[in-house]
Amino acid sequence: MTTTRGLREQETPITMLTAYDALTARIVDDAGIDIILVGDSMGTTVLGYDDTLPVTLDEATSHTAAVVRGTDNALVVADMPFLSVGVDESETVRNAGRMLKAAGADAVKLESGPHTVEITERLVHLGIPVMAHLGLTPQHVNQLGGYTRQGTTTEAAEEILSLARAHEDAGAFALVLEHVPANVAERITKSLEIPTIGIGAGADCDGQVLVSADVMGLSERQPPFAEQFGDVEAAMTEAVESYRSAVETGSFPAAEHSHIEADVDLE
Ligand code: KIV
Repeated sequence: MTTTRGLREQETPITMLTAYDALTARIVDDAGIDIILVGDSMGTTVLGYDDTLPVTLDEATSHTAAVVRGTDNALVVADMPFLSVGVDESETVRNAGRMLKAAGADAVKLESGPHTVEITERLVHLGIPVMAHLGLTPQHVNQLGGYTRQGTTTEAAEEILSLARAHEDAGAFALVLEHVPANVAERITKSLEIPTIGIGAGADCDGQVLVSADVMGLSERQPPFAEQFGDVEAAMTEAVESYRSAVETGSFPAAEHSHIEADVDLE
């Protein structure tokens, strides 16, 4: 975790991107991304759910372990799924601990609020590094009434700032700020020692995070603050259609894809 504190001092912003499997993690890691988040966004991006709420601890553990296997350098942060934290203290500790012990993550991320201050302190005391997450927390979608902007009044922004300070005091090593006004994110960043990592929170955070499907052009719908940096869907579609066509026209498999055992002679 001293690495991320150190990253705040580096000249370039911290880069964080999600991945959910070993193959993508290898690409993201080789590209030099600082932190790989195994986000519960896996629910909508790779598991086909309508939102993140159905993601189970088993799914999160399995995908985190795959990402760890595909990663050599980046810090791997496992996102704790809905209701895996906060229902019961010992269950919370066991669930977060499982991400480190069984899956091999370096840290966990908690969608945060007043209830996670004590939880953060407990986990950090036990040796589980915690990344906090304030602003838009998608696990609260049913209370928020949608994926709406947060911190848009002075009172709401003050609450986020006060929770950010409380999580820093509780020992969180970094803070994700999602879908909050850029001036609020800037003010919070200036008032903390731990790094802030923004998503839809302007350019003055210490780092940026996006969902890999949005970056790569694999999402059906993108949030307004995301940017598509490639068209992987088009490349995948072209590859799959070329394969189908090659099989259907008989050009695949060719001689170089097959072998003949001259000694085998079946009647
Ligand atoms: O689950 C996720 O991918 C996240 C990021 C959007 C921060 O929490």
